[in-house]
Amino acid sequence: MAGRTTKPESASDALVIVANRLPITITSDGAVERSPGGLASALSSVVTEGSHWIGWTGQVGAPTSPLPDDGLTLHAVPLTAAEVDGYYDGFANSVLWPLFHNRLQQPELRRSWWRTYRHVNQHFADMVVEVAPPGALVWVHDYHLLLVPAMVRARRRDLRVGLFSHIPFPGPRLFGTLPWRRELLLGMADAHVIGFQTEDDVHNFQDAMHRFVGPLRRGRRGASVVDAFPISVDVAKWAALGDDASAGATALAEPGVVVYLGIDRLDYTKGIVQRLQAFGELLNDGQLDPAKCRFVQVAVPTRTDVPAYQEEKEAVEGLAERINQRHATPGSPGPVQYLDTPLDGPELAAWYRRADALVVTSLADGMNLVAKEFVSARTDLDGAVVLSEFAGAAHDMPGAIIVNPYDIEAIKRAMVAVFRMSPMERHERMSTMRDAVEANDVHHWARRFVERLRAAPVTRPFRFPGRAAGGRVAS
Ligand code: F6P
Repeated sequence: MAGRTTKPESASDALVIVANRLPITITSDGAVERSPGGLASALSSVVTEGSHWIGWTGQVGAPTSPLPDDGLTLHAVPLTAAEVDGYYDGFANSVLWPLFHNRLQQPELRRSWWRTYRHVNQHFADMVVEVAPPGALVWVHDYHLLLVPAMVRARRRDLRVGLFSHIPFPGPRLFGTLPWRRELLLGMADAHVIGFQTEDDVHNFQDAMHRFVGPLRRGRRGASVVDAFPISVDVAKWAALGDDASAGATALAEPGVVVYLGIDRLDYTKGIVQRLQAFGELLNDGQLDPAKCRFVQVAVPTRTDVPAYQEEKEAVEGLAERINQRHATPGSPGPVQYLDTPLDGPELAAWYRRADALVVTSLADGMNLVAKEFVSARTDLDGAVVLSEFAGAAHDMPGAIIVNPYDIEAIKRAMVAVFRMSPMERHERMSTMRDAVEANDVHHWARRFVERLRAAPVTRPFRFPGRAAGGRVAS
């Protein structure tokens, strides 16, 4: 991990990161790759020598001995095929993910998935109990591991435990449909610090605690700190990538062609269908000229064993194909350029510099780091951002054109506005966005969370009466 140089002065400086994925992924043919997502580089400024990372390799089974990784010790939690099915594809990605993103469809509430989720959370917690140095800081990430804070604290009272949720927390009525709402809240509430992306998420969590755990319990068990910690990106890294990429960027699409850009995991929460529909209608209406506009959509397949993701892939790819069939011009395959393979940093930066506008129409999104990468890479102070009001980033990016992604007409108006925007207005909007993103980059985010965790009193003035928090909970 670049940027990490310090040694722990005492055991309590050690950090134990607990996340569903390790910073490395083992592919189906056994190759070891860096994991997608920016968590490893996000944490580089707070990870000290002697720190640990507990997670899954992405494959069934796992190496049983710890793996060294640039000074960090990686501990792979071995998962069986049935555990991956029930915990990852099932409870995490077919129950919590859609519900926490307000998906307007009842998730299947399989009790066996819940039991496996709880069981796998216990595996992760057991590994923390085993490897955490005395007095260490434990930082648990994401919706896969909501029960881990209570499970760890039940057995290691010397540790400070933080939990950060990368995704939204739903309103209490929606959250309250979960048969296991109380167990999930109790699992989270034993953390010393609970971080969310936005104030809305904080309020939703507090409302849910109030309704389903109760004022008495809440007073005795509530985490020391529940606050918004909006995540960000490595602004300096993306600025340098943007500068390096600018020369080659024009080669990516014909000069004079307006490029709208979408970069996403192929996920139904991202609103890819809505933005392509808006683009297609603008072409149909004649408001955009197919010879002079291009929508470049990078959609990287993800969670491919989950049926909802297979359906989304068909919907997105079918729509892109129909637009291209209708609007293909001689010598051009059509105005939608669809890419389904992951791009590395320099490739992404080249598209960020080539695009006239980034279009982010997430139906719900914890933050959306692509939006922050885009403005970080635009050291030329050009380029516009169309941004969903339901992405956490909408709170952090004044200067973006904010849209309701369910309103196709609003997306169309925003895309036309980009087309007509003066260079001066683009410049002003981009400067405003860059100032805001620079003021809270990812290193600031990580340090702020860890400082709050370190400052939390290790012993809290309550003890859960009569039952170990990590013990059996009713299903
Ligand atoms: O946004 C939530 C999140 O878990 C990220 O932390 C992660 O990078 C992303 O989803 C990818 O998910 P998966 O591990 O399922 O591919």
